[in-house]
Amino acid sequence: MSETSPGSAIVFGASGAIGRALTARLMTKGEHTAVYAAVRDTGADLPRGAVPLRFTLDDEAAISAALDAVSEPLDLVIVATGLLHDPARGIAPEKSWRALDPAVMAAVYAANAIGPALIAKHALPRLPRDRRAVFAVLSAKVGSIGDNRLGGWHAYRASKAALNMLVRNFAIECARSHPLAVVAALHPGTVDSALSAPFQRAVVPGTLFSPDQSAGYLLDVIAALTPADSGGLFAWDGRRLPG
Ligand SMILES: NC(=O)c1ccc[n+]([C@@H]2O[C@H](COP(=O)([O-])OP(=O)(O)OC[C@H]3O[C@@H](n4cnc5c(N)ncnc54)[C@H](OP(=O)(O)O)[C@@H]3O)[C@@H](O)[C@H]2O)c1
Repeated sequence: MSETSPGSAIVFGASGAIGRALTARLMTKGEHTAVYAAVRDTGADLPRGAVPLRFTLDDEAAISAALDAVSEPLDLVIVATGLLHDPARGIAPEKSWRALDPAVMAAVYAANAIGPALIAKHALPRLPRDRRAVFAVLSAKVGSIGDNRLGGWHAYRASKAALNMLVRNFAIECARSHPLAVVAALHPGTVDSALSAPFQRAVVPGTLFSPDQSAGYLLDVIAALTPADSGGLFAWDGRRLPG
């Protein structure tokens, strides 16, 4: 395959609200030879034409195997997984340090920081070295330490802050072998999804995005990123946020 021919894209967490919308938009755009949809449950409702692959964030072998199944050069990797609450496991964002529970913290860190880091471990070496490629992970503005004036949501905020630091670290390391690559964290805005549903009462009216709206913004941000942006945290409107 020549340097100019298109490569493939893979979305981890393609069953989620934003992940599915990103996958659907990538399919519609048709800029990639294939769009892979990595999901926990390959029976999930996925956009037509996307190639389902199975993985879970806590199974490194499955992450590696999913990436092994991609035969074309990997031009775009998006990690759209995430965990904020899960009543079945007693996981809810903490309003106070009094609510801290080590098991909940470990689960949230595993989903939001360790899992995406394992995807990076296996995806970054597979990026092409001779052309632009992007590894983008959905983080959150609340993971910005410099932007934090409200407090609360300890495990989620800290896990996303850790993710932002890992992205910065990976960008530095990746630049040595892949000077044309971009490694970035993205804030999708507040988006109507299962993840945000219990907290939408606090959203200023008119500022809740549909998943498709957010996906459109995020793909525009991704398209505009250059290697000079690598390591940064970017909002849905392209604004660079403090780490
Ligand atoms: N929605 C918002 O307002 C908002 C705001 C800021 C940041 N974000 C970030 O944006 C990202 C996507 O959020 P969303 O609103 O689209 O959430 P969502 O609809 O709840 O989707 C979450 C996705 O993560 C996957 N996932 C969770 N744990 C997993 C695991 N252990 N292994 C594999 N997959 C796992 C889910 O898979 P299953 O379908 O199998 O459960 C699902 O695909 C998250 O990182 C979130 O923190 C969202």
